[in-house]
Formats: sequence, structure tokens, C-alpha cells
Amino acid sequence: MVVGGSLPRLRLGCAELDRVLGDGMVAGSLVLIAGEPGIGKSTLLLQVLAKVADSRHPVAYVSGEESVGQVKLRAERLNVSGEGLFIFSETNATAVLQHLQELQPQLVVVDSIQTMYVEDLAGSPGSIGQVRECTLRFMEWAKRGDVPVFMSGHVTKDGSIAGPGALEHIVDVVLYLEGEPFSAYRMLRGIKNRFGSTNEVGIFEMGQKGLTEVDNPSLVFLSQGRDAAVGSAVVSTIEGSRPLLVEIQALTTPASLGPPRRIANGIDFNRLLLISAVLTKRARLKLSNQDILVNVTGGLRLSEPAIDLGIASAIASSFWERETLPRLVVFGEVGLNGELRAVPQLERRLAEVARLGFKSCIMPRMSSGPPLDYAGLQLIEAGSVGEALSLGLMRRAEQE
Ligand code: TYD
Ligand code: MG
Repeated sequence: MVVGGSLPRLRLGCAELDRVLGDGMVAGSLVLIAGEPGIGKSTLLLQVLAKVADSRHPVAYVSGEESVGQVKLRAERLNVSGEGLFIFSETNATAVLQHLQELQPQLVVVDSIQTMYVEDLAGSPGSIGQVRECTLRFMEWAKRGDVPVFMSGHVTKDGSIAGPGALEHIVDVVLYLEGEPFSAYRMLRGIKNRFGSTNEVGIFEMGQKGLTEVDNPSLVFLSQGRDAAVGSAVVSTIEGSRPLLVEIQALTTPASLGPPRRIANGIDFNRLLLISAVLTKRARLKLSNQDILVNVTGGLRLSEPAIDLGIASAIASSFWERETLPRLVVFGEVGLNGELRAVPQLERRLAEVARLGFKSCIMPRMSSGPPLDYAGLQLIEAGSVGEALSLGLMRRAEQE
């Protein structure tokens, strides 16, 4: 399949979603939006659909879960216009396709694929066979008429429902809508994309009027009103094409019973083990009898190695009870020998740091020449994680 900029695409008018899709939705593509029940899939899809609709170019919302009246109520609550929006409450996929064939919509939402069935196949809606067959039929219809189709799919934590996993190889694009249970923020992340990158993350906030796009995500992921703090560090990371500043928090406490525990929220567990080991061995932190908890604020999940130094700084800050310097951002990959490794896209990171009013940065050593300067930021280079910690944490008399 052709990948590139030459495919005709439908812009959905939702910058976050368009970006995650790779600058709009490719004509005839089948896009699966997966997520746990209640995360906001129906809300997002209805909002997007209504945005695209107009009287000359209708759109279709096929609900297998709600009646037409319920969907209309939701649309009213979301304050979206009903113009050009055709709602079908139907679970028979053959009947759905007939409706769609008559309407000739420019965009379709099927909510959810687990509620659809075809008569000529055994098994109840939601079974692997039904889900797969229905997906194939929607795929075929989308390709034949060049109409883009969204499907929603529920996933559960234990994966018990025939779900997105079974469909990933069939559909063109798989996006996951995720979020922490008690956070209003939702992340839309590409898992598979035949027509673009899977690095992009869209960020939304769930409110009274549904999901709104978050234009300034760095502000969201920094805990407000606090400056320097014990057990906290601000890191620069790049999600897809977007630089972000995010706060990482850590808590170390002596393990009371049994082997010490490590808990990682929002970062890779193995990365936490590695960084803890490096800190123990190379920076003389006695972590072997400590429980360590690491948390990324705002419920974001980070995977870029550049955040290593932030994890290390937050852990050391908590362990030594020393605050990180105020208005400081850190970044750098930590190697097994404790060395700090360079990270890509320096300029874009620094631009975000400066934009949000931070004063200094601790980063991997790049130059042997005079101090680097960027937009008045104080750029502090460090060769190792130990050096970075001694530069980035406040001093405490009894320890120095
Ligand atoms: P929904 O889109 O129905 O989730 P899904 O389709 O993924 O199962 O979202 C349901 C949740 O979102 C529900 O708990 C209520 C909440 N919600 C809001 O907070 N604000 C709103 O405007 C809407 C429509 C829903
Ligand atoms: Mg739903």
C-alpha cells in the first residue's frame, strides 16, 4: 500500500486527531479507536463526526449500543449540530451497509464493532468470528466507495472480549484512547498506521461538553503552583512531533517486609529497574533496601530514553531529601555505566523549555567549548548521572 503524502485525505477539523492520523483521514480507510468502556470513544467520535457534517455531505453514526434517542440526547449535551448527521441504531451489519449504501455519507462511525453481527455466521455479537467478519465487511465497503470509516472497539484489562487485538492486522489504523481513571486527560495514541507515523499522541480533556483538545499540553503535565520540590523533576520529552515538559515524581521508602518493591506509573518498569541499579552502583545511592515508586503526573505514558535523567533525579531527590533546583528541566539518556547520552532534537526541546519560562537545563555534554546559550537559558552540561545530580539538586549542609 502506498505510504506518503499523495493520498487523498479528509481533514476532520480536530487538530489532535488529524495529527495522530497523519494529517487527516485517508479516503477509504478503516480506523479502529480502541479503549476501555467509559473512556470517551463514543463522545470523541460523535463530536468529530458532527464537525465534518454539513447538509450536502452527510455523515452516519451507527450505534449498536444506544437508541437513536439516546444518541440525539448525547449530541445535544455535547452541543453539536444535527445538520447532516444521520443516526442509525442497528446491529445487523448487512442492514447497516444497506443504509450506508443509500445515504452515501462522506464519513461513517460504527460504535462499537463488538455489537455488530452478520446472520450467516454462527456466534453472538462480540465473538471473534463475528467481530472479524463484520470488520472485513466494513473494510470492503470503505475501500469500494472510498469512504473513511471509524469503528470503536472495547478493550478490557483482562482482554476477555474479542477485541482490537484480533483486528489489528485487518484495519488500516489502530488508535488507543487511554487515560487514568481519576484524571480528566485522555491520550489518543497510534498503535498501527498504514498511512503515517505511530509516534504521535493527541491530548484531550474530558469536561461537561465532551472532549476538548489540549493546545498547551506542557502546562497540563506540570503540577501547578509548585516550584522546586523533593522527589520531583521536570523532564523534556518529545512525543511524535511535539515537545512536552512533564513532571516525574518519585518516592523512596525503606522496604518494611520482604524484597523491596518498584512501582512504575507512566514509565517502563524495566527502565526503572535499570536506572535504580545505575544509581546504586554509579551514584552511591543505597536503593537496594528501598521501595521505589515513580509516577508521571497527568497520567501520561512516556517511553523516550531522554526522560531517564528525570527519573534518576526524582529518585535521588526523594532518597536524599534534597529539592531539585527551581525552574530546572533535565533530560538525557542514562547508560549502564552512568554516562549521560545525547538525545535528538535539542533545539525543539530547548524552545519548549524557554517558552514555558524555565531558567536552566541539565543535559548531556555536547561540547567542550564555551557554555552553550539558548534564548537566555542556562545550559548545564553533565557527563554522567552522578555529575548531573550534584548539579541539579539543592545542597543540604549535613550531606556535603
Ligand atoms: P463514552 O464516550 O460513552 O465512553 P465509551 O464510548 O468509550 O464507552 O464516555 C462515557 C464517559 O464520559 C462517561 O463516564 C461520562 C463521561 N462524559 C463526560 O464527562 N462529559 C461528557 O460531555 C460526556 C458526553 C461524557
Ligand atoms: Mg461508547
